[in-house]
Amino acid sequence: MKFTILRTKSDLEHWSNQGQGQELHFVPTMGCLHQGHKELIKAAKNFSEEQPSKVLVSIFVNPLQFGEGEDFKKYPRNLEKDCQTALEAGANAIWAPSLETIFPNGQENYFTIQAPYALKQSLCGANRRNHFDGVATIVLRLLNLVNPSHLFLGEKDWQQLVIIKQLIQELGLKVEVKSIATVRDKDGLAYSSRNEYLTIEERAKIITLSKLLLQESSQFQSDKTIDLNKLRSALENNGLRVEYLETVDYKSLAPVNYYESKLCLLAAAVHCGKTRLIDHIFLMNRKPIIAIDGPAGAGKSTVTKRFAKQLGLIYLDTGAMYRAVTWFLQEQKIDADNEKELIKALTNLKIDINLKDSGIQQVLLNGKDISKEIRSPRVTQEVSRIASKATVRQKLTAQQKLIGLKGGIVAEGRDIGSTVFPDAEIKIFLTASSKERAKRRANDLANQGFRVPNLKELESQIQERDKMDSAREIAPLKKAKDAKEIVTDGMTIEEVIETLTKIFREEIPEEVWPSN
Ligand code: PAF
Repeated sequence: MKFTILRTKSDLEHWSNQGQGQELHFVPTMGCLHQGHKELIKAAKNFSEEQPSKVLVSIFVNPLQFGEGEDFKKYPRNLEKDCQTALEAGANAIWAPSLETIFPNGQENYFTIQAPYALKQSLCGANRRNHFDGVATIVLRLLNLVNPSHLFLGEKDWQQLVIIKQLIQELGLKVEVKSIATVRDKDGLAYSSRNEYLTIEERAKIITLSKLLLQESSQFQSDKTIDLNKLRSALENNGLRVEYLETVDYKSLAPVNYYESKLCLLAAAVHCGKTRLIDHIFLMNRKPIIAIDGPAGAGKSTVTKRFAKQLGLIYLDTGAMYRAVTWFLQEQKIDADNEKELIKALTNLKIDINLKDSGIQQVLLNGKDISKEIRSPRVTQEVSRIASKATVRQKLTAQQKLIGLKGGIVAEGRDIGSTVFPDAEIKIFLTASSKERAKRRANDLANQGFRVPNLKELESQIQERDKMDSAREIAPLKKAKDAKEIVTDGMTIEEVIETLTKIFREEIPEEVWPSN
C-alpha cells in the first residue's frame, strides 16, 4: 500500500474503506515525531502477523490540552519530516486534520470530557489544570472518527495512558490499548518532542533527571529503598527546578509510600530554563507472580509452561510436586493415613523441578528422575487423596512459598491464588467442561503410551477428582475472589495464551516486565 497524507474526514473515510478486512492500528500524536513515536509505529505495524492490518498516524497539535501561557504556539511542527519518519517506521498513512475537521460544527457544539478528579489531581494534572480534560476530549473525538481496532500509546505519558484506558473502559469503546515502554536516547534521556527546545547546555543539565531516576531504579532493585529528599536536592543542585517528585500507585495514581506498595510509580516533572520535561521509573518490590489454578485437564500445564517461557519467568508445576509425593508413598508402600509414618517419610524428601530448554519438565525426587512415572494412571488416581493430607500440603506449600520468595514465577495448581501466593499480581482460574477435559486427558494418555479408557469413564473419573479437590478441608480447589476465569472449551492453546497475555498486560506495564 502506498503512503498517503489525509486531511479531511472524507479523505480518512475513503482511506479506511480501502482494504476490507484489515485491522486499523492507530497511533495518535502531536507530531515532531521522534524515536519514541517510531517505536509505537513499529509496534503497531508488527502487532499481528496473522491478521492483515494498516497503521494510521495522526498529527494534531491539540489546543485543548495546552494551558494559558503554555507552548501551544511554539510547539514544534514539521509535517514533511514527520511523514518521512512515519513512513520509515512502517505507517501506511498520516492523518493531519485541522481543528475544523475534528469539530466540523465548531468546538462549542461538542461534548467535552472531564477526566476523573482522582486521576488528574496528582502529578502533571496538579499544575496543568485542564490538560487531561483536553487530552481525553480530543482522543475520544479521534477514536470516533478513526474507529481503530487498536490504539498505541507510550508509557512515557503514564498518567495520560491511565486516563485514556479508563475512558475507553468506562465508555465501553471497542478499541484495545497497547502501550509501549518509554524509549530513551543513548544517554538515558527519554525521547520527547519538547527535547527540541533544549540548548546544548540545557540538555547536559536535564540529563541528570533520567540518570538519577535510572540510578535510583537499579539501586532500588538491590536495597529496596529510595531517598526522595536526596534525589530532589541532587536535581536542584544541578540547576533544575522540580515541579513534582512523587511516588504514586501505578493504577489509581494516588500518593503512596513506596515501601507500602507492591508496584508504584516514581514520577517527576522538572523545568530546565523554559522547558518542562517529565520522566518516571516504576518501583516493584519483587518480580511478578502469576497464579494459575483450575481443575484437572483444563490445559493448565501446557499453557502455563508456554506462558512462563514467553515472559522469561520460572514455571512452577505444583501438581507435579503432589504427584511426586504420591508416587514416592506408593513406591515405599507407606500408608498415608498413618500420620507418624507419613511425617517420617516426608522429612527427608527433596523434590526438584527443572524445565529444560526443550520445554520438557524434569521432576527429580531425591535426585532420581521420575518425570514419566508421576504421570501414570496409578498416580493420577491417588494424587487427590494424598494432596488432601494436611501434612503433605504444609510441607509442599512451604517449599512453594520459598521458591516464589523473589517472585518471577508462573505457578499452576489448585490453591496457588488462594493459599500459596495470595498476593500474586495476576490470578487466573482456568477451567473447561468435564467433557472437554476428558477428551484432552484421552489425548494425553495416548501420547504418553498409556491405555486410554473410554471417554465416559474418563469424564466420570474427572468429575470424581473435581469433587475430591473441591471438597477437601485444606486448601480446596476454588476460584480466588480476585481471579479471572477463562473457560477454555473450544479455545486453541494460542488463544488461551493470547488471553493470558492481555490480562498480564492490563496489570504489568511493559516497562516493568517487557513482552520479550
Ligand atoms: O500524547 C500525545 O501526543 C497527545 O497527548 C495525544 C494522545 C495525541 C492527544 O493529543
